[in-house]
Amino acid sequence: MDKLVIKGGIKLKGEVEISGAKNAALPIMVASILASGESTIYRVPDLVDVMTMGRLLANLGAGFHYENGEAIIYTGELNSHTAPYDLVKTMRASVLVIGPLVARMGMAKVSLPGGCAIGARPINLHLMGLKKMGAEIKLDKGYVTARAKRLKGARIYFDIQTVTGTENLMMAAAIAKGTTVLENSAREPEVVDLANALNSMGGRVRGAGEGTIEIEGVDELKPLSYTIIPDRVETGTFMTIAGITGGDILIKGCIPEHNEALITKLRAAGLTIKKHGTRLRVTGPERPLASDIKTMPYPGFPTDMQAQFMALMSVAEGTSIIRETIFENRFMHVAELRRMGADIETEGGVATVKGISRLKGADVMATDLRASASLIVAALAAEGKTNIHRLYHLDRGYERIERKLRGLGAAVERQRDD
Ligand code: EPU
Repeated sequence: MDKLVIKGGIKLKGEVEISGAKNAALPIMVASILASGESTIYRVPDLVDVMTMGRLLANLGAGFHYENGEAIIYTGELNSHTAPYDLVKTMRASVLVIGPLVARMGMAKVSLPGGCAIGARPINLHLMGLKKMGAEIKLDKGYVTARAKRLKGARIYFDIQTVTGTENLMMAAAIAKGTTVLENSAREPEVVDLANALNSMGGRVRGAGEGTIEIEGVDELKPLSYTIIPDRVETGTFMTIAGITGGDILIKGCIPEHNEALITKLRAAGLTIKKHGTRLRVTGPERPLASDIKTMPYPGFPTDMQAQFMALMSVAEGTSIIRETIFENRFMHVAELRRMGADIETEGGVATVKGISRLKGADVMATDLRASASLIVAALAAEGKTNIHRLYHLDRGYERIERKLRGLGAAVERQRDD
């Protein structure tokens, strides 16, 4: 496995271009199996998770080709309805195939994802929705099997907002018989992007992004030709990097409106943020100010930015309270930030961060994707050298990260970690 070696203390300056959103690309790649033929998806980031999804689609009998940000997926002849354990265990988003497979093939057999680094993460709500749409659900030997001759429209209420749950059922409903209403559905921009992609295939989805989504099932969808939205978490990560290094970064090709909650909190922390269309110019202060956050479903503060924000707060003036309400175990980065000298106490889902004036470089371990990002944020400002081990997670979600950081003047190197 690789490690990242970062020499901290450089004010990062320059321009960075944002890649396509991982969490929009994955469900939209899956949506291709709702149609028969060749789909082309543009601005797909070059990430391990995208390649894992490609392998999963190929396992179902689809053709998958990826080059220069373009994914071409041929779904003329699917010959399997199984998402095996070895793929689901490396990428939870594999569960997104359940709905589309039952809808198109009448059956899906998907390995149940276990718990993961950030929490238990069940899929009961995905299955509850499919049951309401008429699927017969069975659990056996670690696999869930869903069967239905043809799914039918239903009224489904989520008692917890779930992003991939909403996406799974929205895809299934797109070719079900009749109309499906998803109440208290997730409102994330990635959900809206999937709705737009389905509509571009001839689907009839209304209300995505507003809480109640209405999907009128159609008999057939046509293949995709669609461009993915820019990644709001990558955008947010670079904003935090500008903040912690006291830098001046022009972030290009993003959608600032997708980061409103984060922008409000970063401004409260003393960052200067100017919006110019699809660009954000972010200038960091001499030292950030403490600011409290509570993670919430969109449009609240995103859990996917909690770790990076905590890294910023670890050197802020004052004490900040960070509340994680989405996942029960998303503080794995705390122990690593402490190795760098951060003063952080946690109790349940609450972290109290007492800002110190400077972090110190250390050997740290990346434990999940956003935890890895937070260690990069911290290392860029730390005194001396930080070795971030187990880089595997980072490559799941950040495209060409070290090249982008070097473009901003960072001293970053990837090395073999034997
Ligand atoms: N939940 C249930 N039952 C379900 C589904 C979810 O209890 O059937 C709970 C979860 O355990 C959690 C909450 O609902 O407590 C919200 O989870 P959600 O289902 O929204 O998460 P997800 O769809 O599995 C997506 C992103 C995550 C992101 C979360 C929250 C993708 C592929 N993944 O996960 O992204 O953190 O939404 O915004 O879209 C990441 O990119 O690093 C990442 C983890």
